[in-house]
Amino acid sequence: MTSEAAQPGLGVGTWAWGNQFLWGYDPKRDDAALEATFRRCLELGLVFFDTADSYGTGRLNGRSEELLGRFASQCSPGEQERLCIATKLAPFPWRLGRRGYDRAFAASQRRLQGHLKRVQLHWSTARYAPWQEPALLEGLADLVSGGAVPSLGVSNMGPRRLRQVHQQLAARGIRLSSLQVQLSLLAPEAVQPGGMAEVCRELGIELIAYSPLALGLLGRSASDPRPIPQGPRGALFRRLEPRLAPLRQAMEEISQGRPGGLGAVALNWCRSHGAMPIPGMRSTQQVEAAASALSWSLSGEERLRLDQLAMADGAARMPANPFQSA
Ligand SMILES: NC(=O)c1ccc[n+]([C@@H]2O[C@H](COP(=O)([O-])OP(=O)(O)OC[C@H]3O[C@@H](n4cnc5c(N)ncnc54)[C@H](OP(=O)(O)O)[C@@H]3O)[C@@H](O)[C@H]2O)c1
Repeated sequence: MTSEAAQPGLGVGTWAWGNQFLWGYDPKRDDAALEATFRRCLELGLVFFDTADSYGTGRLNGRSEELLGRFASQCSPGEQERLCIATKLAPFPWRLGRRGYDRAFAASQRRLQGHLKRVQLHWSTARYAPWQEPALLEGLADLVSGGAVPSLGVSNMGPRRLRQVHQQLAARGIRLSSLQVQLSLLAPEAVQPGGMAEVCRELGIELIAYSPLALGLLGRSASDPRPIPQGPRGALFRRLEPRLAPLRQAMEEISQGRPGGLGAVALNWCRSHGAMPIPGMRSTQQVEAAASALSWSLSGEERLRLDQLAMADGAARMPANPFQSA
């Protein structure tokens, strides 16, 4: 068996908290369940929450941060100390220069009621506006060195850009705490040879796996009684479903006699590669199922079997993030 102690824990994704378009959020219907979800996470020791200043659709923009701020402010001082809320600031084209994030950062802090422990660059502009990113990173580093936020991370960066950013920050004595990329059995690029996982290990950067359940598809068995979600998620599920059978068969076998269902297998595959998954959750049942993954780990043979299926030619693949840099 792989060593459990050496594996990362589990965080929580909150993209759905405020998003009507993809996730069908309804404040009147969902907020009580989201508060209960948040509370259950803390009870089970899940304290890392990922959010973004762009989460929340239309007039609900910023809703995910707002909800987290509200829930965090109701925590005890001990819980607040343990909580790690990490937001991501979008490098929109009008956010320019070293001070380009100042207003956005202040707005996030306001919505989060001051409970921010990490600020992250949401995506790399290296592919389309390479001049924008170094200055924004300097600005984020200023926030850390000035004591406005304790730690700094980046997202959607490839190995080459990650090394450059690490160097830029190291030159100022600022530690790059984490890299967040899409990583799942349907998006395994980061853990392939020469990928981001290797660079993170070498440079001592925490690797965070987003969309570890492929938007929920990896948590569904072939006989799942729930209807396919409406809208773009459903369209994606229908497109990937026909090529899922061999992987799902292996996941079904590995999940036998272990808690957490197929979702736990998908999360533990990320953990077995040294990444902390941040599944998006919006019910206490999902939190309990996900947290139960922490009670077991994949054996070396199980991991290898899943690796081979995930990386096989013709395997089902999530769409790559268009902003992911090399
Ligand atoms: N940095 C970036 O650019 C970026 C991009 C995307 C996401 N993210 C972050 O990563 C987080 C997670 O990714 P994601 O929300 O895209 O997708 P995900 O984690 O792959 O899938 C989330 C969905 O999986 C289902 N689920 C949750 N817990 C489960 C469990 N224990 N067992 C089985 N199914 C379960 C739920 O679907 P139902 O509720 O429908 O059942 C949930 O909404 C986001 O919330 C966000 O914080 C970051």
